[in-house]
Amino acid sequence: MYPESIISEKIHQLFQEHSLDPVKKDKAFANRLSAHLPKIHRLFGEIYGTCFDVEYQFIELLRSLILAHQDREASLKKRDQEKSAKGVWFLSNQLAGMSLYVDRFAGNLKAMPTKLSHLEDLGVNFLHLMPIFESPAGESDGGYAVSNFKKVDPRFGALEDLISLRKKMHSQGMYLMLDIVLNHTSHHHEWAQKAKSGDRYYQSFFYAFENRRIPDEFERDMPEIFPESAPGNFTWNEEMGKWVMTVFHTYQWDLNYTNPNVFRVMLDTVLFYGNLGVDLLRIDAPAFIWKQMGTSCQNLPQAHTLLRLIKQCVQVATPGMAILGEAIVAPKEIMKYFGTGEFIAQECDFAYNATQMALQWDMLASGETRVMLNAQAEILNKPYGTSWITYTRCHDDIGLGYDDYMIAKAGKDPYLHRKFLKDYYSFSGDQWMSPARGALFSSNPKTGDARISGTLASLCGLEKALIEGNGPAIDQSIQKILMMQAHSILLGGLPMLFYGDEVGYTNDYRYQSDPRKSYDNRWMHRPVIDWDKVNRKKVAGAVEQQIFEGTKILLQIRKENELFSDLSNISWMSSHNIHVAGFVRRMGDERMYCLFNFSDKAAYLTWYAFREQGEGATQLVDHWTKSEIAIGQNDEHLIIEPYGFRILEPII
Ligand code: GLC
Repeated sequence: MYPESIISEKIHQLFQEHSLDPVKKDKAFANRLSAHLPKIHRLFGEIYGTCFDVEYQFIELLRSLILAHQDREASLKKRDQEKSAKGVWFLSNQLAGMSLYVDRFAGNLKAMPTKLSHLEDLGVNFLHLMPIFESPAGESDGGYAVSNFKKVDPRFGALEDLISLRKKMHSQGMYLMLDIVLNHTSHHHEWAQKAKSGDRYYQSFFYAFENRRIPDEFERDMPEIFPESAPGNFTWNEEMGKWVMTVFHTYQWDLNYTNPNVFRVMLDTVLFYGNLGVDLLRIDAPAFIWKQMGTSCQNLPQAHTLLRLIKQCVQVATPGMAILGEAIVAPKEIMKYFGTGEFIAQECDFAYNATQMALQWDMLASGETRVMLNAQAEILNKPYGTSWITYTRCHDDIGLGYDDYMIAKAGKDPYLHRKFLKDYYSFSGDQWMSPARGALFSSNPKTGDARISGTLASLCGLEKALIEGNGPAIDQSIQKILMMQAHSILLGGLPMLFYGDEVGYTNDYRYQSDPRKSYDNRWMHRPVIDWDKVNRKKVAGAVEQQIFEGTKILLQIRKENELFSDLSNISWMSSHNIHVAGFVRRMGDERMYCLFNFSDKAAYLTWYAFREQGEGATQLVDHWTKSEIAIGQNDEHLIIEPYGFRILEPII
């Protein structure tokens, strides 16, 4: 690698080549580059320092930063400045998100603007558009098998449509989130096609082996991600005559990040998305980007180094774009994606609070909170200045990946407890009394692992209740849906609703007769929106109206109270009643008690719970029921109805 002194000279040359003006016009960029350069240099050297052409690669990386800066629209540069003036802009309680499939929600990108009023009505101003870049129909994994990272798939529209949607969203105060599928490409991607035709340069973009020797070595320690639909981690490619690493589906070829050319071209893609005006970039499956024989090939230190390097580069070239690492892994491992050591809060700005999400489902099935509380020591370690995506459901399955010790400490057997949860949520399960209608996803008979598919509403019992025409059960499932949403909306982080849940979509089983989807039951919870159904949000008393209005009020409560910003200001109340999860959000002297009864019976909470920390209030305002409650004696109780919740602010 070049010593630092030579780098300054090289940068000067690059600036000249690209007519950059570090004194006036490009001063802010030049300042950012010099501030981040030492780390970029070091991180790049850690991974690629021994490559024969490392110096050339490094200069090309710097060139990418310059070109991205020069491509950045003036309006986006202004937005960068506005964001940085706000401090950490994304911690704000003013943001509320939704994930949606453009085609299943609106038809295509051009039609999206006509649907923004629905989102505005709900209080959503942050949109995660599920993958829209070119992806072969039938082998697309919902868009996560990309064949061209820079071309919008014609079924959604064109790049111009995306840009004009983004401009409209920004002008209306909305934010855009898109994915980058960093770990793999579709086998129809140009690089994979060239590799298949024998091009050695592109074969080195992937992990390709002539015989089973190395694949067998790797597979000794690699778990399977889709054991039912895509067992194993390698796929034989006849055209190339080689085994290719395919950790996910057989048509998703893993990119080889030991090759610096791969890193650079994917960094260019990251910056390209930044310049499309993306506010939050979701890095898909970052835990998998580095492979090393003899390991599980997940969460390796080099994967973190690469993410840190990406973050540094983004801060230089497209600084307003925050990074979300989609690491759905063990609780301890998730935390590392926020950065560790000198890189604390300098890796991913966001991670999914997948642990708490799964634990919400754990509490709903078991009716108690002990396992969830045992996980908090780890979850609360999130560094200040970073944030969670909080959610109840998303396009993926629910994994029960929290640690065994969290279950064992609650006095339960981890194997039997997980079996209970799987039975509870899957329709074919043994818990015939369960109201949930879901399905097991990716069952692995070798390990006994399985995850859970199903919509929020179906898993909360609405599907069954509607089929049976059971009024009280319908009411109870609506209550559960709103309690689950309240919990994740108020928890701390950016709430990300999943489209359809705001009007109570139940499972859609039509995917079973579509051969392009039938192998993947996650499609049961990815609805095609019927706008007549959505419009029932205006019909007083309709299921859709009750869920929509409830969700809307929850988002309003969050927006009206700044203490719901993610200031790392959450603490859990001690367990006065094992059925009630209670957290307190604080800011200065203000506080908000958020209490959730996960049981099907009324819960009694002694009023002492509100005196425990010596606060001296005599009255509470309930923001959900818009009523005032007097705090009673220590031997009296606050009563919370089955699956009820309270959002209580003490009046001091
Ligand atoms: C992520 C996506 C998931 C996809 C996988 C492979 O986990 O959320 O839907 O199947 O990556 O790209």
